[in-house]
Amino acid sequence: MARVTYVQPDGSARTCTNFEGMAVMHLAVGNLVDGIDALCGGVRQCGTCHVYVDDAWAARVGGPGEDEAAMLEALADRIEVRPTSRLSCQIHITEELDGLVVHVPDNQPGV
Ligand code: FES
Repeated sequence: MARVTYVQPDGSARTCTNFEGMAVMHLAVGNLVDGIDALCGGVRQCGTCHVYVDDAWAARVGGPGEDEAAMLEALADRIEVRPTSRLSCQIHITEELDGLVVHVPDNQPGV
């Protein structure tokens, strides 16, 4: 089991728990976390699962893969992309990420 805390756009925090292997996006959607639309269902085509990984966790989570980075770059005119930006559908929960904190941005790209 691993916990992920989502800091929602209004500043409130939600901590959700699930088994390893699940995407941070799927855990958020399943728990009705505010601000993660995930319109493409997790296939890196919409960007509406964008989150900022908390600075304390950024090194452990790591940066985006090549395709994910390309998607974030393509969205940069519609969302604020930061060094800690990730598509939450591409972050899979592992035991090492137990306690992970991500911040949900105020807005997601329109599709
Ligand atoms: Fe669409 Fe992550 S759910 S890019």
